[in-house]
Amino acid sequence: MDGHSEKLNRKSDHIETSQNLNDFKDWPEDLIDEMRQSYDNGCVGSILVSETPMVRVWHLRLPPGYRCPFHRHVNPYFWSSHNDGRARNYFSSGQIKEVNHFAGETRHFYYGKDEYMLHSVENIGDSELLFTTVEFIDGENRPLDIPDSYRLKEPDA
Ligand SMILES: [Fe+2]
Repeated sequence: MDGHSEKLNRKSDHIETSQNLNDFKDWPEDLIDEMRQSYDNGCVGSILVSETPMVRVWHLRLPPGYRCPFHRHVNPYFWSSHNDGRARNYFSSGQIKEVNHFAGETRHFYYGKDEYMLHSVENIGDSELLFTTVEFIDGENRPLDIPDSYRLKEPDA
């Protein structure tokens, strides 16, 4: 199989946004509004620690009980968990999914042209969740803009 057809056959992790309010019947109402207003939020972590023309490297730190803002993944990426813990995911399809995480757990996601995932992650365990997330921003979609306030300020030498 040549590289081109391999790419065409890659499994997509696209999640369709539901327009049916019934799909969100288990959601707190303020979360539905936040989700709708966050379509252009490309901040997939707490802090953007490095960026090149090819990648953005993020850290996502979630103390127990905290939930990160809704954000949208538009290009292939992976995350790697540094800790054990438990999380609740809210997806724009309306799906809510609870998962256990373990230190070293690493998951890869793929999005082709016009595909994406819009979601939020809540720490529902009793330990801090900490992820490193790497986005491949040379993918098929233009990366979303990131406010400067999210970029790591290196300490003065
Ligand atoms: Fe995310």
